Amino acid sequence: MKHFEENSNNHKHCNRHGKHENHNNENKKNECGSHSDVSQYKHNHEEGKKHGHCHGKEENKHHNMQKPDMTGMPFKYDKEEEVIEEKVLGFNKLKEDLHSLVQEKKPFTISSFASMYGVSDLEVCYAMPENMRTITDGKNFETIWKELATWEKATVIILHLGSAFEISTKINVGAFGHGYYNIMGESPLEGHIKADEIHSIVFSTMPFMGLESLSVLFFDKTGRLIFSVYAGRQNRQIIESVKTSFYKMKDEYLHNNSISRKSLVIYSSLTGNTKQVAEAVQSVIPCCDIVSIDNIPENLDEYYFTAIGYWVDRGLPDAKSKKLIRSLKNMNVALFGTLGAYPDSPHAKGCIRDSETMLKTTGKNNNVLGSFLCLGKIDPKLMDYMGKFMGDTHPVTPERKARLLEAQTHPDNNDLENAKAVFKGFAERLGL
Ligand SMILES: Cc1cc2nc3c(=O)[nH]c(=O)nc-3n(C[C@H](O)[C@H](O)[C@H](O)COP(=O)(O)O)c2cc1C
Repeated sequence: MKHFEENSNNHKHCNRHGKHENHNNENKKNECGSHSDVSQYKHNHEEGKKHGHCHGKEENKHHNMQKPDMTGMPFKYDKEEEVIEEKVLGFNKLKEDLHSLVQEKKPFTISSFASMYGVSDLEVCYAMPENMRTITDGKNFETIWKELATWEKATVIILHLGSAFEISTKINVGAFGHGYYNIMGESPLEGHIKADEIHSIVFSTMPFMGLESLSVLFFDKTGRLIFSVYAGRQNRQIIESVKTSFYKMKDEYLHNNSISRKSLVIYSSLTGNTKQVAEAVQSVIPCCDIVSIDNIPENLDEYYFTAIGYWVDRGLPDAKSKKLIRSLKNMNVALFGTLGAYPDSPHAKGCIRDSETMLKTTGKNNNVLGSFLCLGKIDPKLMDYMGKFMGDTHPVTPERKARLLEAQTHPDNNDLENAKAVFKGFAERLGL
């Protein structure tokens, strides 16, 4: 059994163009939202080191680019000058890399870029230059498919386990039946599409190695690319009538788009620390409900993004949070938590690793955006208990005493701002 320190409903209104208003009513629902600014913030390294930590990923090189830490808090500490450098969040780095790949005419696919950077395929679309993509709701599937069926020629691409299948043909119109959208007709491309699972549709004009390329991409809820339809070509040129139809749809959905995506913050908190962080997290996510873990709504599937906040108990999320985390499937999810140990300690890192592993188990298909931890004051009763009964296993060294005292002022403003910056980044990655 792991021991502590072994290792060292609010109601928010918002609209798509406006800001949030917080009404502080527990466990109530809200109405919809807009998005926040690109996040840049200064972060004191020592503060960050001790008080807030967000799970990071290893650096990786590709095309001379360093993979950004998509789940990490970006800060660089110059030890000699003790200067804190302002850095952009990982998502901005991903955007920059993607934009320069497009300029440099390098060959890459959305899926290869996604796996290289540890994000979903759809997150790559949100990182594309805005004029190169229009993103709409999957509920427009049938209308869009019918328009695709008017194209003289299309190339349908299905990626499966690293292989790509391409079928250049005319598209058959389909009809709903038995839970599928069934396509059949004269064209050899027949099949059964799980239209219910198409959550987002993207019109992309991103060139491929400098060559004009127009595609309609279909994604599931957790941002996995299901299949793509490319505008057909004749003599290597995109067929003019197909191009006209593509831009007609792209423009229509650009100007007449209503994607409604709700998010939810669920927190578990005994003494209020995690609840404080939960409220900070909620404040930066558009259209976001907040509930305590004892009031979880029945249908979590309704939520596009779920953030779960736990308090650390014996090196893991507390029992209620653990049960919830283990039960999740097909979710865009991020975790946050408070604890008595330093957030960059092996104890805290182990907690992040183990809790994310619960979400990533094969077959669960969760899109895990990352985790954020910060210090939280420790219940005085627990401190007494530890002093009395655990003196041998957890001797009160001067270092431990200092840390426990330090924890008593957390979460502080800095922790809350760090949590906000990290979750703003997550929201931007999901296009919220
Ligand atoms: C029973 C109990 C067990 C704890 N175990 C750990 C632990 O293993 N590691 C740790 O860093 N903090 C541990 N803590 C400290 C809490 O995680 C920390 O104080 C947290 O901020 C409490 O959050 P809350 O105010 O939201 O309940 C424990 C606290 C309690 C009461």
